[in-house]
Amino acid sequence: MSSSQLPLPAHFLWGAATAAHQIEGNNTNSDWWQKEHSGTPQIAEPSLDACDSYHRWREDMDLLVELGFTDYRFSVEWARVEPAPGHFSPAELAHYRRMVDGAIERGLRPMVTLHHFTVPRWFAERGGWTADGAVDLFARYVAATAPVIGSGVRHVCTINEPNMIAVMAGAAKAGDIGWGPVGTPAPDGATTEAVIAAHRAAVRAVKDIDADIQVGWTVANQNYQALPGAEDVTAAYRYPREDVFLEAARGDDFLGVQAYTRTRVGPEGPIPTPEDAERTLTDWEYYPPAIGPALRHSADVVGEVPLIVTENGIATDDDTRRIDYYTGALSEVAAAIEDGLDIRGYYAWSALDNYEWGSYEPTFGLIAVDPVTFERTPKPSAAWLGGIGRTRELPRVAS
Ligand code: BGC
Repeated sequence: MSSSQLPLPAHFLWGAATAAHQIEGNNTNSDWWQKEHSGTPQIAEPSLDACDSYHRWREDMDLLVELGFTDYRFSVEWARVEPAPGHFSPAELAHYRRMVDGAIERGLRPMVTLHHFTVPRWFAERGGWTADGAVDLFARYVAATAPVIGSGVRHVCTINEPNMIAVMAGAAKAGDIGWGPVGTPAPDGATTEAVIAAHRAAVRAVKDIDADIQVGWTVANQNYQALPGAEDVTAAYRYPREDVFLEAARGDDFLGVQAYTRTRVGPEGPIPTPEDAERTLTDWEYYPPAIGPALRHSADVVGEVPLIVTENGIATDDDTRRIDYYTGALSEVAAAIEDGLDIRGYYAWSALDNYEWGSYEPTFGLIAVDPVTFERTPKPSAAWLGGIGRTRELPRVAS
């Protein structure tokens, strides 16, 4: 095995990512809080205080800067900003503005996500994304975030993983909100259409706030890999789960690419991960190169649109595997840059061990969080990965 380095391109974003519901705590007005407290069988435990980042965001940002990161992706929580239809909370908008200012003061460039899986309870109760007027309601919320994103924010993500929103809606309609053992449930078509329309409306609303803000959305890439002879089956399987959302990003300022593992597809469809494969705490196959083919496939679909890795990481309690995972992943990013892909940044998922949508067990964090005292303890991987923000050199490992 030999190794070398690739200098990061100028202005390359080097960050870690989080999402409001997963770290803030007490997001009581959201649909997820409701779900967590209504006996949903797939939810092992509720989020409760999460990492208390609603109060401790300064500490989180201080740590990221100390570690060497120059960028931070976090989300604004719609359920807090608009607790009742049409009522936009000046106090919550001021809270998120303080976060934006706090990031900038510390030398962290904020990337702001406007929607990361959770919606206000009232929005869910009126029928969610497919109800009449949903797109306009989302656009109205986006317009209302002007005091937060209106200055100093260069990158805005409209909707995180719209394809997973459609998949979860599809699974729920099929009477099973859980994940099957193999592959990804079929997305709900009406939800797909609605979130694409919501993205378009949100892009317009952000541009109305400031035309210079770079706007995009972030798509989950499952890395569908065709076994010999299954190329057509794979393409057909992938289209509604991924490509339709990538096509909707054509013409955007950037596309966020998110990948963690792979799914292999045979002539009959996705096949199970082999019994003897290493698995992570989410039970996904340990597959460090995931981000490479995800970037390349995304580029094939979106063409000239710049790419940003907006999430990539691993749930493990063995931090040496996390470093190993990121080493493999960054080699793929380096190779893709060398091959001429226009990649503008990389954000690790996640800054903190956080609420992984139903459980605190899968730990994705670079920084551990004590569930009672909320004390933060950076792991060795945090110093290692953050340090690349100082050396500005990507590791490249050729085996
Ligand atoms: C989501 C995150 C999630 C992560 C790991 C992505 O699907 O954007 O919220 O925690 O992957 O599952």
